[in-house]
Amino acid sequence: MSLSQRLLLQDFHLVDETTDMPGSVLIQGGLILDVFPQGTRLPETQLPLDRTIHGGGTLVLMPALVDLHAHFRDPGYPEKETLESASLAAVAGGYGTVVCMANTNPVIDTPAAALALKNRSNALGLIDLYPVLALTRGMEGETLSDMSLLKGPAQETEPWVRLLSEDGKDLGSDELLFRAFKEARSLEIPVSCHCDAEGPEVEAAKAAGNPRELWSRIAENRATQRVIELGKQAQGHVHIAHVSTKEAVELIRTVKTSLPGNTALGGFTLTAEATPHHLYLTQETAHTLGAETWGRVNPPLRTEADRQALIEGLMDGTIDAIATDHAPHTAADKLRGLPGFTGLETSLALGLTELVQQDRLTLSRLSALMSAAPARILRLTDRGRIAPQLRGDLIVVDTEAIWQVNPKLFKSRGKNSPFTGLVCTGKVLMTIHQGRIVFESP
Ligand code: DOR
Repeated sequence: MSLSQRLLLQDFHLVDETTDMPGSVLIQGGLILDVFPQGTRLPETQLPLDRTIHGGGTLVLMPALVDLHAHFRDPGYPEKETLESASLAAVAGGYGTVVCMANTNPVIDTPAAALALKNRSNALGLIDLYPVLALTRGMEGETLSDMSLLKGPAQETEPWVRLLSEDGKDLGSDELLFRAFKEARSLEIPVSCHCDAEGPEVEAAKAAGNPRELWSRIAENRATQRVIELGKQAQGHVHIAHVSTKEAVELIRTVKTSLPGNTALGGFTLTAEATPHHLYLTQETAHTLGAETWGRVNPPLRTEADRQALIEGLMDGTIDAIATDHAPHTAADKLRGLPGFTGLETSLALGLTELVQQDRLTLSRLSALMSAAPARILRLTDRGRIAPQLRGDLIVVDTEAIWQVNPKLFKSRGKNSPFTGLVCTGKVLMTIHQGRIVFESP
């Protein structure tokens, strides 16, 4: 791992959730030392620079991205992904901080297992990884995991678990989920809810021979309602993962607008994420790719009306963050119907192409959705924006670079992208992590 450097990023367009201006940034000791709007004289200091990186033209400097939802498959599934391959994919996609889900083998269901993974990641030095701790032992939905062990000085000074989740297995028992929410609340950690729990209505819809598209919609809408109700009772922070239906967007909007100071800790808090595939694709793509094979994902790709509702949700703040749900699988696993898409290396380019270029969102809003807001959800106050004393986690993006998605070139072992062949506008050219250049586009 190379040491953090003294870097000057000169004459860039600086963009974060509140900044949109030309300027330069000086990084030292892993932190942003200073930000200079264009026209201010750069200070002359005794210390030599390790490198000056020149901007200009269409080059933008943004905070590194923060992903609330990725599957690193480590430990247990090296044929799909490893910590190393996922981390290389993350930096190539512009990510500096990633939360990885606990549906590994073995399941990450102890604070010690989460810490071991984090320590391995720290030794690689590419990203900041925050492993999710499962809500129950073995994700079996029976006994709560030992999340209470997270209480204590170590987690208080340098928390290594910042999100709890049972991943795709929402707990069936209301009583158990309520207890999990209460425990999470006492730890001040949000619970990410995947909202695909089944129930009598879903069973009836299945028994009546309805397609997945219909019963999975009922499942998501019912499950979203349920976790919000239980979260309110427990006064915890509920984070809704991969929202995909227009009804769920509307429900979240209604609940959020009725809450005073939704982001404050100490009471019921509701946040939500949407994925690139639900934002930019519909069920037509799933059918073209094979709805039960290459186009299969949980929740499924939905209708154009759902897609538009998600984008409206991004625009008005109903949805707080874009998260990848990076879910690498082998070709054999896709052909036998395993759900999920690889996503770390395409998410920013897709946001630029489908939202910013189409004038649906400003670049600042996209930055907020992919950096500042997810950092806030994780209570990470030291990143996600460009300001002095924040971490030197930055990316250089060429907003006009045109390229075509080709999974053969992915660092990820997962080649299961539904965007294969798509021509994108906008590319990550460099990723800087704690003041060190960890990725440079060839
Ligand atoms: O399609 C999905 N696959 N959605 C998820 O939420 C989980 C993921 C996986 O682990 O493969």
